[in-house]
Amino acid sequence: MAEIAFYKDSFIAIDAEVVPIQDRAHQFGDGIYEVIRVYNGKPFYLEAHLERLGNSAAAIQLSLPYTLDEIADICHEAVARSAIDEAEIYLQISRGIHSRQHHFPEPTSPVLALTVKEARLVSFKKRMEGLRVLTTEDDRWKNCYIKSLNLLPNVLAKQKAKEHGCDEAIYHENDTVKEGSSSNIFVVKKGLLFTYPPLKGILHGVTRKIVLNLAGELDIETKEEPFSLDFLYEADEVFLSSTSLEIMPVKQVDNQLLPTERPITAKLQELFQKLK
Ligand code: PDD
Repeated sequence: MAEIAFYKDSFIAIDAEVVPIQDRAHQFGDGIYEVIRVYNGKPFYLEAHLERLGNSAAAIQLSLPYTLDEIADICHEAVARSAIDEAEIYLQISRGIHSRQHHFPEPTSPVLALTVKEARLVSFKKRMEGLRVLTTEDDRWKNCYIKSLNLLPNVLAKQKAKEHGCDEAIYHENDTVKEGSSSNIFVVKKGLLFTYPPLKGILHGVTRKIVLNLAGELDIETKEEPFSLDFLYEADEVFLSSTSLEIMPVKQVDNQLLPTERPITAKLQELFQKLK
C-alpha cells in the first residue's frame, strides 16, 4: 500500500518535487479540481465528479489534456497502483506551464496532477455527536459553481471557524444561508428538507445531489430554496454534505444549540451507507 501521484503524463512518488515554478496552478490558481472518495478500492460517483470537472473546464475555457474517459482510466490505475482501499483522489487541471502573463498562453498545454492518499476518516463519535459551525459573510466571487483552485476565501473562513472552536464555516450572503467552506448545508424543518438552490453562487455538490435523491426515495419533500440565518438557528435538524464528510450532523450554529434528536438525518445517513 503506497500513496501515489500523477503529474502531466506519468505516475510519480507522492513526495516527488516536480511541479515547475511556472505552472499556472500556483501562480494564478488558474485551474480546476475534484476530490473523489474511494470505498473498497472503487471510486465513488466518479462519473458525476468527472461531469462536473468537464463543466468547470468549459466555464473557464480550459480544454482538458485528456478525455473524461481517459481521466477515469488514470483514476482507476492510480487507485490500483496505490492499493489503498479507503482512499481520496485529489485531481487538478491547470492551464499549464508558461512564462507568467495573465491572459491565456498560446498554445495552451493544460496539465493534470493527481494524488491518491488514505482517506481522512471521520470518527464515529463525531458522526454521532455532530459538528459546531460558525456563520460568516460570503466574500467569495459569484461563480462558486466552478470548482476552481482559488480557495483563499475558503481557507480563511475555515481558519476563522477553527479559531472559534468550530469545524466548519457556513457562508451567508446578507441574511441568506448558502453553503459551507467545503460542504453543502441542509436544514430539516417540520419534516421538509431545505437546501440552497443550484445557482452559480454555490458548488453543486455531488453528495448534495445524492442526498436529494435519497430524500426522494424516503418520500421526504425537498425544497431547493434560499432560507435565512434565523431559519437555520430554529431548525429541527441541520447537516452538512461533502465527499469527505458524507452526511454529517450539526449540533451547534454559532451560539445556538440544536436538537439532538435527528430522525431524518439518521435515515439519510443509513441509506447513504448502503450506496458504498
Ligand atoms: N469540497 N461546497 C464547497 C465550497 C466545497 O468545496 C465542497 C467540496 C462541497 C461539497 O461537494 P461534494 O459533495 O461534491 O464533495 C460544497 C471538497 C471535498 C474539498 O474541497 O475538499
